[in-house]
Amino acid sequence: MSPTIYLSPPDVGPLEESYLLAALRSGWVAPVGPDLDAFERDVAERVGARGAVAVSSGTAALHLALLGVGVGPDDVVVVPTLTFVATANAVRYTGARPVFVDCDPHTGNVDVPLLAELLRRLANRGERVGAVVPVDMFGSCADYTALLPLCAEAGVPVVEDAAEALGARHGGRPAGTFGRIGALSFNGNKIITTSGGGMLVSDDLALLARARHLATQAREPLPHYEHRETGYNYRLSNLLAALGRAQLVRLDGMIARRRQLRDRYAKLFAPVPGVELIGAEDAEANCWLTCIRVDPERAGWRTADLATHLAGREIETRPVWKPMHRQPAYAGAESLLTGAADALFAEGLTLPSGSALTDPQIGYVLGAIDEFLSLRTGAATA
Ligand SMILES: Cc1ncc(COP(=O)(O)O)c(C=O)c1O
Repeated sequence: MSPTIYLSPPDVGPLEESYLLAALRSGWVAPVGPDLDAFERDVAERVGARGAVAVSSGTAALHLALLGVGVGPDDVVVVPTLTFVATANAVRYTGARPVFVDCDPHTGNVDVPLLAELLRRLANRGERVGAVVPVDMFGSCADYTALLPLCAEAGVPVVEDAAEALGARHGGRPAGTFGRIGALSFNGNKIITTSGGGMLVSDDLALLARARHLATQAREPLPHYEHRETGYNYRLSNLLAALGRAQLVRLDGMIARRRQLRDRYAKLFAPVPGVELIGAEDAEANCWLTCIRVDPERAGWRTADLATHLAGREIETRPVWKPMHRQPAYAGAESLLTGAADALFAEGLTLPSGSALTDPQIGYVLGAIDEFLSLRTGAATA
């Protein structure tokens, strides 16, 4: 096994092994089965939604969610420019056109006053806005207290991209439940994983039934194969659902571990000038990834310098998402910007945050950062 310390490696062990083996031995090696039904029930219960549909990825979940709320080729859909490309791609799959909006500089989540301005502009132009897709960045919910009334007033459905946020809350309410429908991801680097997978959660059972139908090739319930529209092969397999069930049992422990890591980074960087921890004050975050932002003027160094130092010690870091309005695939897309996402991309860095990281590994990472800081500033922090 490589000694590299990764950003967010899968955290799996004996419990996952036993669930997976039991599913394999049960004979349900198919994209249906009792573990799939149970995983949907467990996730719905965990987030307090009336129902859930398990699918093959978070991207598939977003695609079906957008189709479900009626997004189509004549629509524009508002997407934060600071996100993983899947959010924007899912809009394109429907034939709609994404319009990007900038983020809050301290949380990375959608800038709600700017969103209000964008919705006004689009309405004035007579555009049909099919949906707004807020993203719960790095496991911190968007400001739904401000965002939901705004979208309700504009008559635009909210599709929540909670891919990174299972277990997070906002005002006590669980991530995934803020829009008409929410999308979760169980990709290998997420807070819980099925190696690849995703889930739709909603209180709207008709919407979920439609998504389930589309996810199973839109097959009609007849003895022969009958299809009245074009569907997708998007269902999660029963085996992977078994893995997900085991992970869900451990979710609270994994969140606690990630928060512990975040607290240690916060303590380490607290005395360092020019370093800010993104979303640090959010006590309801699931702490999926801890991300710092460095003002090079005040700090005297750049995130790229720290990244290079850590890479030399086999420690993985990553820049914050490159904004969608900077992606060649979205060149020319309409955007309403303040420069906040550009600044976060230039100055942000995500640090190893996985719940599987051992105490010695974390000690090693913190030691390597401390070594860097003492070289740069002449003063170790710990
Ligand atoms: C914000 C966001 N949206 C969507 C996705 C897509 O999820 P998946 O990789 O499961 O398709 C991801 C992660 O991969 C993500 O971080």
